[in-house]
Amino acid sequence: MSKGKLLVVDDEENLRSSLQAILRDEGYQTDAVSSGEACLEKLKKNKYDTIFLDIWLPGKDGIAILKEIRSRRPSQYVIIISGHGTIETAVQATKLGAFDFIEKPLSLEKVMLVLRHAFKQKNLEDENRTLKNFIRRETMMIGSSVPMKALRQQIEYAAPTEGRILIYGENGTGKELVATLLHLNSPRKNQPFVEVNCAAIPDDLIESELFGSVKGAYTGATESRKGKFELADRGTLFLDEVGDMSLKTQAKVLRVLEEQRFHPVGSNQAIEVDVRVIAATNKNLEQEIEKENFRLDLFFRLNVIPFEVPPLRERKEDIPELVDHFMTGFCRRYGKPKKRVRSQAMAKLESHHWPGNVRELKNTIERLAIMVPGKVVTLSDLPSSMMKPSRGAKQGKSLNWQEAREKFERQFLVDQLVENRGNISRTAAAIGMERTHLHRKLKTYDIKVK
Ligand SMILES: Nc1ncnc2c1ncn2[C@@H]1O[C@H](COP(=O)(O)OP(=O)(O)OP(=O)(O)O)[C@@H](O)[C@H]1O
Ligand SMILES: [Mg+2]
Repeated sequence: MSKGKLLVVDDEENLRSSLQAILRDEGYQTDAVSSGEACLEKLKKNKYDTIFLDIWLPGKDGIAILKEIRSRRPSQYVIIISGHGTIETAVQATKLGAFDFIEKPLSLEKVMLVLRHAFKQKNLEDENRTLKNFIRRETMMIGSSVPMKALRQQIEYAAPTEGRILIYGENGTGKELVATLLHLNSPRKNQPFVEVNCAAIPDDLIESELFGSVKGAYTGATESRKGKFELADRGTLFLDEVGDMSLKTQAKVLRVLEEQRFHPVGSNQAIEVDVRVIAATNKNLEQEIEKENFRLDLFFRLNVIPFEVPPLRERKEDIPELVDHFMTGFCRRYGKPKKRVRSQAMAKLESHHWPGNVRELKNTIERLAIMVPGKVVTLSDLPSSMMKPSRGAKQGKSLNWQEAREKFERQFLVDQLVENRGNISRTAAAIGMERTHLHRKLKTYDIKVK
């Protein structure tokens, strides 16, 4: 495989052939032309990683050609070949956007050095562009349902403020995505966005994780470590699964929020920080407060602006858009032609319950993008788990009418309660059932709320 494709533009026949020979020996594919006009002609049909362009050319000179190249292809790499007495012009060329220049007579080392630099720089730029595109795609919030439009509007209003935000939502609904968008649309966007998953860190480590620790603070602390609050200074700290913090840690976090300063573990020197906190939870914090698992004062501190990310099953109209977005992204990532989802299969995707919400849908589409041969996804390509009659239904044993009814009722009530965050009055209103009747049913099925 060639290392890259290069174009040599010089009117001296000797120089063209010797430079081409050098470059070919080094593994590059090369073309050569003798005038600026011919160079522009070549560029119409070809792409070159780098162009070697002589300053002095018959017809339009190198500078004029450079300007034209830059206006047509602003990111084209050009290395100027300058003769005796044209150094000043070569310097001028770099100001016009040429990457660098080499002087005649050409030395092999110098040519290769400049070329290596150019490729290094170009690779970095390409990588940067790919990464930025990836991030842009990964932080796109797809969906035009009413709740998604409302959410987008809320983000727009709240992002530029310093308001503390608490994001509610089931697993995989997009809480972290919302937090990221709040950060990216805030004046802190060029500062760090730091995430802490409070549920994933063992209780005895969370303090040093949040506040850092000094050397010798505890056994094994051989180095001082910065905590997440310090790492997020001037930026945003995303406290994920905040409902899973111990009461002891809650007390400490509350103090930081009040004072914007804290002590690393084992240190008596306070550190001041300027951090915007965004928190998220899939728990019903009001219930956690009643159960005395969560501090009311911390709740008020965090919950200045509450956000709710609705479960996917409550915005099914977003599903085709999401499917299309994920399918395009994954097929591109895995270098496959984009697959079309047949209407029957799409209908199934739309009607599915999606307990794991957008994340589950995204994983399903990734799997289809990889595993389905050809360009069309049909009903039979969908995972068999989606084809079962209802969630949690036991396979094998058939139920009689009464059992089936009870099973359905129970599941239905649980779903409705989850959707209404465990609020009995709201659930009763939502399903059009008397409150007392609902209570009786819950008792019959031994469904515990709170
Ligand atoms: N509206 C959306 N448009 C596009 N992608 C989305 C959308 N919502 C979620 N996603 C994607 O789905 C995945 C899950 O989202 P995210 O991690 O934000 O959910 P979460 O609510 O934080 O989940 P968990 O509770 O499990 O932590 C991510 O890859 C995210 O980019
Ligand atoms: Mg999350």
